[in-house]
Amino acid sequence: MSVPFYLAPMAEISHRALRELIEDFGGCDLYFSEMISAAAFLAGGPFEKWYIDSGPKPEKCVFQLIGSDIDILCKAAALLDKYECAGIDMNMGCSAPLIRKSGAGAAWMASIDRAGELISRIRPLIKRRLSVKLRTGYKDDFEYLAQFCRRLEDEGVELITLHPRTVTEKFKRLARWEYVGALRRELKIPVAGNGDIDSAESLVRRAAGPCDAVMAGRAAVKMPWIFAQARSNAFTVCPHAQPPLEKTGLRFLDLLTRYQPEEFLVSRAKRFFGFFCDNLKWGTYLKNQINREETLAGIENVWVAYFKENEG
Ligand SMILES: Cc1cc2nc3c(=O)[nH]c(=O)nc-3n(C[C@H](O)[C@H](O)[C@H](O)COP(=O)(O)O)c2cc1C
Repeated sequence: MSVPFYLAPMAEISHRALRELIEDFGGCDLYFSEMISAAAFLAGGPFEKWYIDSGPKPEKCVFQLIGSDIDILCKAAALLDKYECAGIDMNMGCSAPLIRKSGAGAAWMASIDRAGELISRIRPLIKRRLSVKLRTGYKDDFEYLAQFCRRLEDEGVELITLHPRTVTEKFKRLARWEYVGALRRELKIPVAGNGDIDSAESLVRRAAGPCDAVMAGRAAVKMPWIFAQARSNAFTVCPHAQPPLEKTGLRFLDLLTRYQPEEFLVSRAKRFFGFFCDNLKWGTYLKNQINREETLAGIENVWVAYFKENEG
């Protein structure tokens, strides 16, 4: 059986519209949602229904929760477990300073006991697969990482995704994929690897290495067809084959209007095109133009005009 491919959780990006677009091209095996704030979810804000839309394939959608308070995370996980989805993932890897300062995201990696307590409390509350996504830790210390993950496993975590960079590295240096294989040897549960996939070819190459799944983030926004391309090995036949870019961008804008609230449309379109424009010769110029627009119609006009002027 082939190694599964996952879409990474990305705030403001990994929502239904992107999943629909990826499905158009053939899909991937699991879609991690953008992080959902446990506190906001429980407070029942006006936008929460959009965060918990697990379509178009709920059976392949994993909701990712973020938070710092064990009681709140337990309540949110128990509630989310009632929605149709493939599992619930705990964010222990987000390195944004504000998130960490609040005790959420990668801050969980500072204490094995605190993280262990969280998992031991959540585990009996949910029926779905419980997973954790994390980084290497505060230091480049594999022994600590292994100990941390063994504790998560003992408490009932069923899948770990490792983005093998330290908390403070952000996207500096290359992801240390050798840690994915090393962690896999330490655990009985599956370990997915994540970091720096930049083509269908690199997805296939990583899948051939020691890991139980490969997760792609930024490259899947730039190339929503990457998973299908990797599965079909099409890149070896025709490395430059890519779907029509103008049409794909327009399709994404249409999906956004269907599956996101009015208030999110412009910011989320900008997030998407921030990566998708990297397919284009004058992508940086176009990104700047898009970022100046204040309406979705404005973004669409700029997008269409670019193709008339440059690629037609
Ligand atoms: C814009 C953006 C938003 C992200 N949001 C999240 C998030 O909500 N939860 C999470 O666990 N990781 C988040 N990440 C990290 C990604 O899931 C992934 O670990 C990282 O981008 C490395 O993978 P890549 O090289 O394939 O992009 C985010 C990354 C980006 C670029």
